[in-house]
Amino acid sequence: TFITIAALIFGYLLGSIPFGLLLTRAAGLGDVRSIGSGNIGATNVLRTGNKKLAAATLLLDALKGTAAVLLANFYAPDLGLWAGFGAFLGHLFPVWLGFRGGKGVATYLGVLIALAWQVALIFAAVWLLVAIVFRYSSLAALCAAIAVPVALWFLATPQLAGLFAVMSVILFIKHRANIQRLASGTEGRIGARG
Ligand code: G3P
Repeated sequence: TFITIAALIFGYLLGSIPFGLLLTRAAGLGDVRSIGSGNIGATNVLRTGNKKLAAATLLLDALKGTAAVLLANFYAPDLGLWAGFGAFLGHLFPVWLGFRGGKGVATYLGVLIALAWQVALIFAAVWLLVAIVFRYSSLAALCAAIAVPVALWFLATPQLAGLFAVMSVILFIKHRANIQRLASGTEGRIGARG
C-alpha cells in the first residue's frame, strides 16, 4: 500500500547516500571508483591506504540501513523492514550515480542489526572467521550472506528469512565479478593496496 511504498522510498533515499565516494572525495583522495575493484564500499576505500576512512565508510553505510529501519518503525511498526530493504536497494542502485552503486554488505548488516541483532552477531562472526582465515572481504561477505537467511529461519521469522534470502541473492549477483576473481585466484586480499 501507499505507506509501504513511502517507507521503501524513504529507505532508498537514505541508502543511496554514497558515503565511501563522498568521504574519499572530501579527503582529497580522488574517485574511489578508479582504484581497486572500482567499488564505493569500505573494502575498496581501504585500498586507498586510509584505514580511518574505510572504518567511517563501513560505519556510515551500515548506519544508514539501521537508521532507515528504526526511523520507519518509529513511525509505524512493521514498516522498518520495507525501509531497510529500500536502503539496501538505494546503496546498490543510487539514482545519483546512474544506478551504479555499491555491493551492499555494510548496509545489509546495518539493516540486520535493526531487525535481528542476534543474527547480526552471527553475520559478524562468520565474516570475521572467513576474513581472518582467507583474507578476502568478498568471500567473507558471501559466506555471511548464506548463513543469515538460515539463521533467521530458525531464530526469527520466515518473513525476515525470506526478505534476507532475497537480499542475499541480490548481494551474490552484485559480487559476480568478485566470484570470478575468487575462482581464478585473482581477488585482492583485505588491505592490499590497489
Ligand atoms: O563489501 C564489498 C566486498 O564484499 C567486496 O568489495 O571492493 O573487493 O569488490 P570489493
